Amino acid sequence: MLSNMALLDILIYPDPRLHIQARSVERVDSRIQTLIEDMSETMYAAPGIGLAAPQVNVLERIIIIDISESKDSLLVMVNPEIIDIEGSAEQEEGCLSVPGIYAQINRGEEIRVRAQNKEGKPFELVAEGLLSVCIQHEIDHLNGKVFVDYLSHLKRDRIKKKMLKTQRNA
Ligand code: NI
Repeated sequence: MLSNMALLDILIYPDPRLHIQARSVERVDSRIQTLIEDMSETMYAAPGIGLAAPQVNVLERIIIIDISESKDSLLVMVNPEIIDIEGSAEQEEGCLSVPGIYAQINRGEEIRVRAQNKEGKPFELVAEGLLSVCIQHEIDHLNGKVFVDYLSHLKRDRIKKKMLKTQRNA
């Protein structure tokens, strides 16, 4: 059977399109479901554990995450919203839009999130550890924020230069 899924291009930092606020999804329809399928294929192929729609140049509030080792536990969140946050913890993060760069980032430790699933059905979940980090990281993308934005100007400039150089040489 022919697959109609497609690999999408991932925007690479410092692409200015990574800094645009995404809009809410009004209706979870077949267009959104196709986008989610394409996003998941793109994320698994990269490979990565999380992807937000703005990273594939779609300014809509959709994130997908799979932190399982078997890569069979896709979490889809449409219009995700953090409604409670407790504690703080520092973990190393990376991002498909900033390949090869890792940094310690401080975030909320435990979060409660409200979202819609890929059928548009609302749900809530409580997350801690890696899942909590991933959700916060991906929601940042919806707000035009990349994890390196938490770093000092000096570090960020160094990363920017490195990324631009890599892209020139590609
Ligand atoms: Ni990212």
